[in-house]
Amino acid sequence: MTGILQLLLLVSVTMASEPSCPACSKYDYEEKVLERMIRMEFAFENVLKENKAVSKTVEEDLTRIKEENERLHATVDALKNQQEQAERRLVSLMEEVERNQSSTLEKIVSDSNTTLEQTIAAFNVIKDPIASPLVYFHVRSPQTSSLSTGEMIVYKTVETNHGSGYSSTTGKFTSPVRGLYLFFMHTCTAPNKYAFLTIVKEGSVLIASVHYDKDYYTCSSSQVFVQLDAEETVWVQCSNGGSNIQLYEQHPYRWSSFGGALIHN
Ligand SMILES: *[C@@H]1O[C@H](CO)[C@@H](O)[C@H](O)[C@H]1NC(C)=O
Ligand SMILES: *[C@@H]1O[C@H](CO)[C@@H](O)[C@H](O)[C@H]1NC(C)=O
Repeated sequence: MTGILQLLLLVSVTMASEPSCPACSKYDYEEKVLERMIRMEFAFENVLKENKAVSKTVEEDLTRIKEENERLHATVDALKNQQEQAERRLVSLMEEVERNQSSTLEKIVSDSNTTLEQTIAAFNVIKDPIASPLVYFHVRSPQTSSLSTGEMIVYKTVETNHGSGYSSTTGKFTSPVRGLYLFFMHTCTAPNKYAFLTIVKEGSVLIASVHYDKDYYTCSSSQVFVQLDAEETVWVQCSNGGSNIQLYEQHPYRWSSFGGALIHN
């Protein structure tokens, strides 16, 4: 630059020493070239200056972008971190929910099992008292000869004997369980014969009957309810004997008979 200025100075000095005649100066061409060179030099310098300014701006922009980029990276990393933490928390929460669900389910199952077992135990306790066993009997064929006072009537033909309460050996019914029983006796006589019969519990009369008809074969029935303890006995007994005290029975008819049933316990 200094060189160019010195050249310019030299030229202007030379020109000043020459007569003022632009058209005929012997340096005219060189002067013009020099002038253009100087103008170009200025222009170039300006371009350089502008370039420098632009480049500085670009550099600043680049730095800003770089910083921005770093900030973005940091933000993305932080977000990633948060997301991972959230995912981990979600997974562990889901696992806990699953564990809780299965433990709740186990508790429900075991609770219902306990309830069921308690119900079964309670049922077993009350089952025996509330369930009436099947107890009933029906027997016939007493002896038909004269009865004596106090004679126990033994019915030899056993039609039914659920619960095995009746004994055709003794004529007695022994209650297998405690409960309310109903007993009956069906009493038939031939013409002009008597029957004085009672149903007896452990020797005490529950119901008494007298049966008689002068002209016909006739029958009558007596029934009685009685509460029995287990192992208590009931039977039919003659309350007044004699030669014309006779029951009537003829095969295959079902005349005189005795029976009973447990109706509630
Ligand atoms: C799991 O059960 C525990 C104890 O019962 C309770 O404290 C917790 O809140 C439950 N978790 C979920 C996710 O339900
Ligand atoms: C219920 O209880 C019984 C007896 O304790 C046991 O054998 C059975 O496995 C239980 N059932 C369940 C589903 O837990």
